[in-house]
Amino acid sequence: MTDQIAVIPGDGIGQEVVPAAVQVLDAVDPEFAFVEADAGDAVKESTGSALPEETRELAADADATLFGAAGETAAEVILPLRRAVDSFVNVRPARAYPGTDALRPETDLVFLRENTEGVYTGHESRLSDDVSTLTRVVTESASERLAEFACEYVRDRGEDRFTVAHKANVMKETDGRFRDAVVRVADERGVETDEALMDALATHLCLRPEEYDVVVCPNLAGDVLSDLAAGLVGGLGLLPSANVGPERALFEPVHGTAPDIAGQGVANPSATILSAAMLLEYLGHDAEGQRVRDAVEATLESGPCTPDLGGSASTADVTEAVISRL
Ligand code: IPM
Ligand code: MN
Repeated sequence: MTDQIAVIPGDGIGQEVVPAAVQVLDAVDPEFAFVEADAGDAVKESTGSALPEETRELAADADATLFGAAGETAAEVILPLRRAVDSFVNVRPARAYPGTDALRPETDLVFLRENTEGVYTGHESRLSDDVSTLTRVVTESASERLAEFACEYVRDRGEDRFTVAHKANVMKETDGRFRDAVVRVADERGVETDEALMDALATHLCLRPEEYDVVVCPNLAGDVLSDLAAGLVGGLGLLPSANVGPERALFEPVHGTAPDIAGQGVANPSATILSAAMLLEYLGHDAEGQRVRDAVEATLESGPCTPDLGGSASTADVTEAVISRL
């Protein structure tokens, strides 16, 4: 059966990198049915809603979704889209590729970020002129679900351990629950865990990234640590991600709309094309996913490359080079 892919480019360079990734998907499997929909600042301007209901429904029904980026409205767009596919984990690989000028060439990490709760549930209030509060939600069930996924994830990679990031020394109840649930589930499945306080982990990741592999994190910690890892591998233009739910998934680059270069045709499409490779694997097209990944890696190694990586190639040049290497 033809897989239906929802395509939501959004704003800024999303309009450039998502079509590039769709071209690559088309080149590996012409059987995909792409359905495009709007979201973001521009559609809010014209319709009043950053995430039209038909776009949300399209993502909820499609076999997989490819999303680009949204500007000012990012939180109004991506958080409901992640919920629309019931994605409980955000898989964020951060790898230094040969040929790129990575700060830490030995970096090869995957963050498994809790994707539904923590400080992202929107329980914020302004109590008075002086005081605002935020309620942080951590549930046993979401922590367990993430840990079960993490155990399967490391086993699929032929490994038997992961790191749990937390700040349970301060957030004893919430991160304490998160840590305990994750460690217990891993124990029950014979997967080893080591724990890291997230602040110390930030330092260790900068100094010795090679000591880490799969890192399971609460929502906000995963957000911050994955951007830190982007710095280690040479920029946000290289980090793909997958928001995975029990039946659906949404794929997106970790970067945003990059307003400084939007519209110039020079955005690095690698993160989005690598997200498309994750989409292929999610839909069971493992060989095609690997071919795309290999083609991106060869292009990063031998060029052409976009200005963020020190080159002068356009998005189209890089995309053509990837397709010709498939
Ligand atoms: C990301 C972004 C989003 C997040 C924002 C825009 C809601 O920073 O995808 O990393 O915090 O998850
Ligand atoms: Mn982020």
